[in-house]
Amino acid sequence: MTHSVPSVPASASQWVEALQSVGYFADLRLATALHLAVGLGRPLLLEGDPGVGKTELAKALSQVLSRTLVRLQCYDGLDHRDALYEWNHAAQMLHLRLSEKQQSAQQIERELYSESYLIERPLLKALRAQSPGVVLLIDEVDRADEPFEAFLLEYLGEYQVSIPELGTVKAARPPISLLTSNRTRDLNDAIKRRCLFHWMDFPDRDRELAIVRSQVPNASESLAQQVTDFVTRLRSQPFTNAFSRSPGIAESVDWAKALVALNALHLDPELVESTAGVLFKQRDDIVALQPLIDELLTPAKAA
Ligand SMILES: Nc1ncnc2c1ncn2[C@@H]1O[C@H](COP(=O)(O)OP(=O)(O)OP(=O)(O)O)[C@@H](O)[C@H]1O
Ligand SMILES: [Mg+2]
Repeated sequence: MTHSVPSVPASASQWVEALQSVGYFADLRLATALHLAVGLGRPLLLEGDPGVGKTELAKALSQVLSRTLVRLQCYDGLDHRDALYEWNHAAQMLHLRLSEKQQSAQQIERELYSESYLIERPLLKALRAQSPGVVLLIDEVDRADEPFEAFLLEYLGEYQVSIPELGTVKAARPPISLLTSNRTRDLNDAIKRRCLFHWMDFPDRDRELAIVRSQVPNASESLAQQVTDFVTRLRSQPFTNAFSRSPGIAESVDWAKALVALNALHLDPELVESTAGVLFKQRDDIVALQPLIDELLTPAKAA
């Protein structure tokens, strides 16, 4: 059986179409950033509020290109053992105990630090991947600390690492790398320079409506529109100032699903109030929503 290698979209508008075919709705700006990053072989740094579709883009990209997605989730204290590789100490100890009597110390050492005891973590996996290479998602890089960022800078520059016991590993097919950040802290300038940068906004009304329609196909057209209008207004001035955090796309989708589960055909104040916990996860935000519901619903009523 022959597997055809999917062709890489050749323009930003082809990227929009290809991403849409796997259920991801991108605007032309994002598609252009992706087109350039893939074409130039540069990592793409995506910054934006929670829930704007950063992680999901990496999943869609791996689907479009039929490449495995390798994901490194960053957190405070992440070090190279979790990111790159570590040795399987328990198995090494066992091997040591079993072979102590029959083999020379040199031979044992050679075997202990061989492939069989190496545990590959995402960054090494991405380097050693077979053709055509992988999509590498380095997710929430702002959560890792600065020494790790410095290490990452080197990694993204060379796509090679040195393992003292095994030698240098260089990627035959460099990964297509996406980095995401929620901006909990500012990233180092050097890492920003290494990457192409794209700021991801919440989608405009039409794109969000397309996402809701596609992910909640059993919502009526008018319900999908009312949900989208309501959430779009919530995220805009002056309403957005009332809340600690704007609902993301996942919340709009969840809300539409919840309303369908309640057999709702239209939004009304009581329905909004009783389902507010799908949109907001902070008590203060739910309290702040209450007096604004009528105003937020006005355009939906007029529609
Ligand atoms: N452009 C899009 N097209 C289709 N679905 C989308 C899109 N953007 C977001 N989604 C939906 O919204 C959900 C949340 O998106 P995602 O997890 O990618 O956000 P994020 O920006 O990574 O958020 P966080 O910063 O909290 O990790 C996804 O699971 C997906 O269902
Ligand atoms: Mg994410």
